[in-house]
Amino acid sequence: MNSRREMLKLMAATGGALAVTGGLAVRSMRPDVQPAASATAALAGPITPFQVAMPVPKVLQPTSRSSTTDYYTLDVQQAVTEIMPGKSTTVLTYGGSLPGPTIRAKSGRTVVVRQTNRIGAGTSMHLHGAVVDPDNDGGPMDQVAPGATRTYTYPNKQVATTLWYHDHAHMTDAEHVYRGMSGFYVLSDASEQALGLPSGTYDVPIMIRDVGLNDDGSLYFDHLFTSRPQILVNGKPQPYFRVRARKYRLRLCNGSNLRPFEFRLDNGDAFQQIGTDRGLLPAPVTTTSLPLSPGERADIVVDFSRYAAGTQIVLQNTLFPTDTTDRIMRFDVGDTASDTSRVPGRLATLPALGTPTVTRTFSLTLDPATGAGLINGREFDMNRVDFTVKQGATEIWEISNIDQIPHNFHIHLVDFRVLDINGTPPAPGQAGLKDIVSVMPGQKARIQVSFAYPYLGRYYYHCHLIDHGAMGMMGQFDIVRS
Ligand code: C2O
Ligand code: CU
Repeated sequence: MNSRREMLKLMAATGGALAVTGGLAVRSMRPDVQPAASATAALAGPITPFQVAMPVPKVLQPTSRSSTTDYYTLDVQQAVTEIMPGKSTTVLTYGGSLPGPTIRAKSGRTVVVRQTNRIGAGTSMHLHGAVVDPDNDGGPMDQVAPGATRTYTYPNKQVATTLWYHDHAHMTDAEHVYRGMSGFYVLSDASEQALGLPSGTYDVPIMIRDVGLNDDGSLYFDHLFTSRPQILVNGKPQPYFRVRARKYRLRLCNGSNLRPFEFRLDNGDAFQQIGTDRGLLPAPVTTTSLPLSPGERADIVVDFSRYAAGTQIVLQNTLFPTDTTDRIMRFDVGDTASDTSRVPGRLATLPALGTPTVTRTFSLTLDPATGAGLINGREFDMNRVDFTVKQGATEIWEISNIDQIPHNFHIHLVDFRVLDINGTPPAPGQAGLKDIVSVMPGQKARIQVSFAYPYLGRYYYHCHLIDHGAMGMMGQFDIVRS
């Protein structure tokens, strides 16, 4: 909390841009994508909020099913959407929509995604949070060439949670994700379904991200979050969402490249957090605020039966708010609807924490001289394996943000538990299964990671402020037989 106040002071003292980049001219990762000469982009003015309805991404239908497997087709393609009223915006998508369609999978049933890359650059689809072998992990170097087709196979041998898929092509992922390449992948299982949580149309994935638009409606791209003043929710600018007066399960994902959020309802009312990145919490956590850094997911239940028809409730952002990023969306409460759903007092049992045998330390910073993203002073190098981990081992990783700007830390394949941040145990809503930990300026997060999943080989860890990962704040490790 204190460091957040420090951060706000810093933002105020330096102007947002300096605090976000460290005052650096950030190197362009592609010769055809030059960053703006200064931090002042010629961006379009703000779009009036709450003018359009929030769409719910459509659920992708399988092209076929067998007794064990659902088969999907999901191509990478350019599409045109409307963000600014009356203007067209060309985006890069999965399946033609922004965000891409939601894949709904069941624990124990395999999903096969067949994908043709129909854009003019190499891509790599990463299913974020999936327990999957390296060949299907969609790593930065494992790219699908323009025009090529490949399949990704996901065994779904993990507990119910909200995953998301996004591009991970080395150095171009930041721009690809920014231009639209992401979508939800919702995994359910029998024990979750037995809980009776809100389901069907009352279980709604919500992708929240920022963007910058030029006057003609086209996307503006550089590596500064100050150039992304417009909030999009499921692809639309600060929309409204008509809800019935009953409970809703809302699966929030921060799909921004750089912007961390902290959400609250503008009436100050509490809601229940029921899940984190990688599964349900042991018990619901009643809270009035929810931090979510880029890539993180949170599963919440909001009970709108408390409100009379006609009530409007704005979802606010209280972290580094500006006059365009302080409001995310608005819930417009309508008539009641029958509601047999419930939020039981016990949701899940977390696996026991093993005995750690190895401690590793990671420090995160952007190089003040070059703008390169550094972990332990080094930029990502595809020819360097940073370390090996023994399969089955339990390790403590200490991650320090030695910068004056926010970072976070994501590990492929595994989930982990946050032990403490600057020595303080995490808030109850951060104490579940995670695959990203937020590390604000000056913070040190200690996490405990178990490498118990049955896969060997090459995996990645990186800052999930995707532009930082693209600038080199990433490393790779091999899981080897013990
Ligand atoms: Cu969500 Cu390595 O990424
Ligand atoms: Cu970072």
